[in-house]
Amino acid sequence: MLKQANPEDFKSRWEYSKATSQWHFDKLRDEDREPPFTILGRFKEGAWRQEIEDMLKSAPTKPVSFVTRIAGRFPEKIPYTLRMDEHDLKSMGLSVDHVLFHNLALPEAPTCLQRMADFFRLRNRIVSIHVQYPGQTFPFHIDDLTSSKGNNPNHPLNLNPDLLMRFEIQLLDWEWGHVWAYGNTYWKQWRAGEIAFHRWRDVPHGTANCGHTPRCALQVTGLVTEFTRSLMRQRNAVFELGGISEGAAV
Ligand SMILES: [Fe+2]
Repeated sequence: MLKQANPEDFKSRWEYSKATSQWHFDKLRDEDREPPFTILGRFKEGAWRQEIEDMLKSAPTKPVSFVTRIAGRFPEKIPYTLRMDEHDLKSMGLSVDHVLFHNLALPEAPTCLQRMADFFRLRNRIVSIHVQYPGQTFPFHIDDLTSSKGNNPNHPLNLNPDLLMRFEIQLLDWEWGHVWAYGNTYWKQWRAGEIAFHRWRDVPHGTANCGHTPRCALQVTGLVTEFTRSLMRQRNAVFELGGISEGAAV
């Protein structure tokens, strides 16, 4: 039975999310061998690589904080998580406008990066490109997917979270200092194009860049289709933007 909680009962987003998570919260458990995230495989090297490199040189990026993160998606409403996020930032000694990463807008013109986002065939998908510059941190949290839930804390997805999925695609090769923590372990040493997902309502995670170069990832979130489900059974596959090319195991 999935755990439910009422955000009105919590000051802290972390405590609220913990109350609905099914992760074990045992700091001593070894998760290196059985990590709480899944790597599907990676997109084959392609023109998308040049696209992102060009965008990083020339396209403006916007700083993203908890205050601005989903502003614009709900111009008439304040996200119900914001009050709790601000509480947690203050308790960490961070300012409420602490910058988590920068956002890079996906171009309107058809691009390989758009085809990459389309590849998962998610419905009602939301796409972001996150650029985390050296020094920026996104503290440990559990996803709420407030935007996908239409800012509704009682959304039916709370009863069936598997209907929604978020994929993270690294767009640049991993470098020393690019930190991506999942539970008690880390995603690391990725090649550009590598794809991962996790149980969004359960697994705590956070990112930091203590390296010398930006870390850049495409994030695609949406309602899963039959195709998405079959994709999620893949491991170590190499995907071309037209389909799966090699190494796929269902
Ligand atoms: Fe997250």
